[in-house]
Amino acid sequence: MASGSHGGFDVLVIGSGGAGLTAALSLAEHCRVLVLAKGALDSGSTAWAQGGIAAVLDAGDTFENHIEDTMVAGAGLNRRETVEFVIERAPLAIERLIGLGVPFNSAEGTLHLTREGGHSHRRIVHVDDATGWAVESALLKAANAHPNITLLAGRTCIDLITGKHELRYSGSGRVWGAYALNSATGRVEAHTARATILATGGAGRVYQFSTAPRGATGDGIAMAWRAGARVSNMEMMQFHPTCLYNLDVKNFLITEAVRGEGGQLKIPPGFPGAGRRFMPRFDERAELAPRDIVARAIDHEIKRLGLDYVHLDISHKPPEFVREHFPTIYEKLLGLGIDMTAEPIPVVPAQHYTCGGVLIDLAARTDLPGLYAAGECTESGLHGANRLASNSLLECFVFGEAAAADILARWDSFDAPPEIRAWDESRVTDSDEEVVIKQNWTEIRRFMWNYVGIVRTTKRLERARHRIRMLGEEVNDYYGHFRVTTDLIELRNLLQCAELIVHSALKRHESRGLHYTRDYPETLPQAVDTVLVP
Ligand code: FAD
Ligand code: SIN
Repeated sequence: MASGSHGGFDVLVIGSGGAGLTAALSLAEHCRVLVLAKGALDSGSTAWAQGGIAAVLDAGDTFENHIEDTMVAGAGLNRRETVEFVIERAPLAIERLIGLGVPFNSAEGTLHLTREGGHSHRRIVHVDDATGWAVESALLKAANAHPNITLLAGRTCIDLITGKHELRYSGSGRVWGAYALNSATGRVEAHTARATILATGGAGRVYQFSTAPRGATGDGIAMAWRAGARVSNMEMMQFHPTCLYNLDVKNFLITEAVRGEGGQLKIPPGFPGAGRRFMPRFDERAELAPRDIVARAIDHEIKRLGLDYVHLDISHKPPEFVREHFPTIYEKLLGLGIDMTAEPIPVVPAQHYTCGGVLIDLAARTDLPGLYAAGECTESGLHGANRLASNSLLECFVFGEAAAADILARWDSFDAPPEIRAWDESRVTDSDEEVVIKQNWTEIRRFMWNYVGIVRTTKRLERARHRIRMLGEEVNDYYGHFRVTTDLIELRNLLQCAELIVHSALKRHESRGLHYTRDYPETLPQAVDTVLVP
C-alpha cells in the first residue's frame, strides 16, 4: 500500500473510543494510522459504558426482532437499511471483541444475555456492569501493541484542514487532517493524512446534567459543520431515565440493566402514592418501555409532585443476585451510604446520548471528500428519534470497521496531502479572563437544561436561541483575539452544538421520540429527518 503522507501517517483518526480504535485496528494491517485523543486515551464515553452491547445471539431471538425493536424505539425515524446493516453485523462484532480478549460474562460456554428497556428479548452481552471499561482496555491494548498505530493523548483538535488551508490555496472541501492543540507544549500542530476519520463522541456536556464524561463537547460535530458537512437530527438528545441523584456525585449512571433485571420505579416516602410504582400508568411495558417514555414519565412525576428524585428499587431481589449482577454500582453506592440490596436508589433523568450528528452513509462517508465519521458523533440512520439501549457501542464497531473498509477499498483515489499552512500563531496573547470562559460554559449548560430539555416549547427554544446569539458574539471575540486553550475550543464547540440543537428543534413541528414540544404534541404521519446544510 502506498504511504508517505505529509504528516508521515496515511490515516488520521480523531478519537480513541470504541469507534476510533476499531477503525484504527482495521486499517493498521495495511497502512500507518495516527490516533489523537483530547485528554487521556481512555477518557471518552466508551470506557464509561455499563449495560453492554446488543446482538442477536440467542436461538429464540432473530435479526427481525432486533430490527423491529430498534425501529419502534426510534419512533420510525430510523433508516431501515442502516438498521439492518448494523444489526446483521452485530454477532461478528462481538466475536471480534472476544478475539481481542473481552471477558464477556458467560456460563459453560454460553454468553450471559441481560435485558434493557425497549428490547423484546434478552440480547445484551456484558462484562458485569462495567462493559465499557473492559472493551476500551482490550481495544487500547491491541492498538498499543500494533506497530502501525501511533496513539497521541493530550491533542485537542481545533478544526479540520481543508482546501482553504493549502499552501497553494485550492479552497476545495477536501479534508487533509486537522489542527490540534498539544496541551503539553501549548503549540498548535497540523496533522495531515490522506483520509481522516472523526470519532469524537457526543455533545452531552451541552447540558447541565449529563452522564457523559467532561470531554463530550461535540467537537467533531462542530468541526465537520464548520468545514461544510451536513448534520442531521440534532434535536434528538437522549435523556437516560436513571442517573444517581446525589449532591456530590453529579453524573453517575445507574444502568438500565437494573430495570432489565427487575428494578422498579417508585414514588419516594412523604408524597401521595409513596412506595408505589408509577410506570404502569404510563406504558404497558412499564419500567422496560423505551427511554424517552420512561424519562418523560419520571420528569412528569417529579414536576407533578414537586419531588427532587424518584426511587429505583431492586431490593426485592436476593442480595447476592444484586451484588453479582451489579458489582461496580453496588460498591459505588455503598461508598455513598446507599445499600442497593436493602434500600431504593434516588434517581433523576440526565442527558445521556447524542442521537444526531454528522450525516454519514453506510460506508461512514461524510459529505466532504477524505472525511469519514463513526460512532456517537454521527447520524447514521440507526437510532432515529430515540436510541435503543446498547445499540451505541455496536454502531461504533460496525461503522469504525465500515470506514476502514471503504478507505482501503478506495485507497488509490486518495492523494497524498499537499503542503499545508502552519497554524496562525499571531494570536499570542493569553486571555486574562479565564473566569468568563468558565461562566459561559456554565451558562450554556444551564439554559440548555432549562429551555431545551425533556419537555420543550417554542417560546423556550426561542429564548435559548437568543442567548446563544449573544454568547456567540462574546465567544467569537475571544476566539479571534486570544491564544486557544482546550476550554475555549470546547466552549466554541458547545455553543455551535447548542445552536444546531435549537435550530433543529425549532424546525421540527411535531413531537416524535426524544423531541417533545407542548406546541406540537402530535406525531406527523411521515417521519422526516432534520438535515441542516452549512
Ligand atoms: P467516545 O468513546 O466518547 O470517544 C471519543 C474520543 O474522541 C475520545 O478519545 C476523546 O478524547 C476524543 N475527542 C473528542 N474531541 C476531541 C478533539 N477535539 N480532539 C481530539 N480528540 C477528541 N452505549 C452502549 O451501547 N451500551 C452501554 O452500556 C452504554 N453505557 C453508557 C454509559 C454511560 C455512562 C455513557 C456516558 C454512555 C453509555 N453508552 C452506552 C453510550 C456509549 O458509551 C457511547 O455512545 C460510545 O462509547 C461512544 O463511542 P465513540 O467512540 O463514538 O466516542
Ligand atoms: C445503560 O447501561 O443503561 C446504558 C446503556 C446504553 O446507554 O445503551
